[in-house]
Amino acid sequence: MLKVPVKVNLSEEDFAWFRELIANEAGIEISEKKFSFVYNRVMRRMQFLGITSFEDYRVYLEREDTRDNEIGKLLEEVVTHETSFFRYRPHLDFFREKIIPELRRKRLLKGLRVNILSAGCSSGEELYTLAMIVNEEISPELKLAVNMMGIDLSWPVIQRAENGVYIEQDLEGMPSDFITKYFIREGNTYKIIPQIKESVRFERFNLLKGKWHHYKYMDVIFCRNTLIYFSKGAKRKVLFKLVDTLRDEGYLVLGHTEIIDGEEYNLKRVTNTIYRKA
Ligand SMILES: C[S@@+](CC[C@H](N)C(=O)[O-])C[C@H]1O[C@@H](n2cnc3c(N)ncnc32)[C@H](O)[C@@H]1O
Repeated sequence: MLKVPVKVNLSEEDFAWFRELIANEAGIEISEKKFSFVYNRVMRRMQFLGITSFEDYRVYLEREDTRDNEIGKLLEEVVTHETSFFRYRPHLDFFREKIIPELRRKRLLKGLRVNILSAGCSSGEELYTLAMIVNEEISPELKLAVNMMGIDLSWPVIQRAENGVYIEQDLEGMPSDFITKYFIREGNTYKIIPQIKESVRFERFNLLKGKWHHYKYMDVIFCRNTLIYFSKGAKRKVLFKLVDTLRDEGYLVLGHTEIIDGEEYNLKRVTNTIYRKA
């Protein structure tokens, strides 16, 4: 692609238009204070495309043949994918100590399947962490009935997750015995072992706009550090969808600061930011 330096003014009206586009497409709310952030990110896309005015870029974003692809690229510029293996241990301890034994007793030992979803899974660290814990806690025969999925809006992170290849910094904070057990070191990279990789599946999915009927009967949904970036309305809409997707008594795990009014969503608070469908 042609790269040309451009320097143009972003009007208040353009700024509002981009904020609205991002909110409508992904649910993500960009604060009114983030003018320079939006300016810089939009400019990056325009420079890449060789487009020299916001007006032309807006047309490009509305053209049928370029729209979907470019919206994805623009969202990629504004979204944060920050994640890590073994992020926020209290949630993982609860998963291991309370949720897994209950699912084993109430479902797996009765021959019933278990579905676990990481919604806003980024590059896979969260779901792989859950898969490792499941592998530790559940016997191989029962584990076959555990279905684990990760979904995210962004193609690049879904591809990274599917590759399951990480670098040393990505493994910071991981117990060393887990690193030895669950990764194959190849030069500077660490590959998730096939046994764990094959136990999970990743798909591109927009939490706000996707067709949720693909993801019915979830026993556990981890949706951490994703809805905090959403507008109030988008967050509400997605929370209703998540609850609808849960089985009765299923667990919803939100980021550790994401406190919600459980009652509004037919959820009971269990502990911290872990809720349960009533
Ligand atoms: C900060 S990461 C959180 C990753 C992981 N859940 C964790 O807590 O470590 C948020 C992820 O949500 C994804 N995301 C944002 N808006 C989304 C949407 N509308 N639909 C699906 N995923 C979305 C982003 O692409 C990003 O990878």
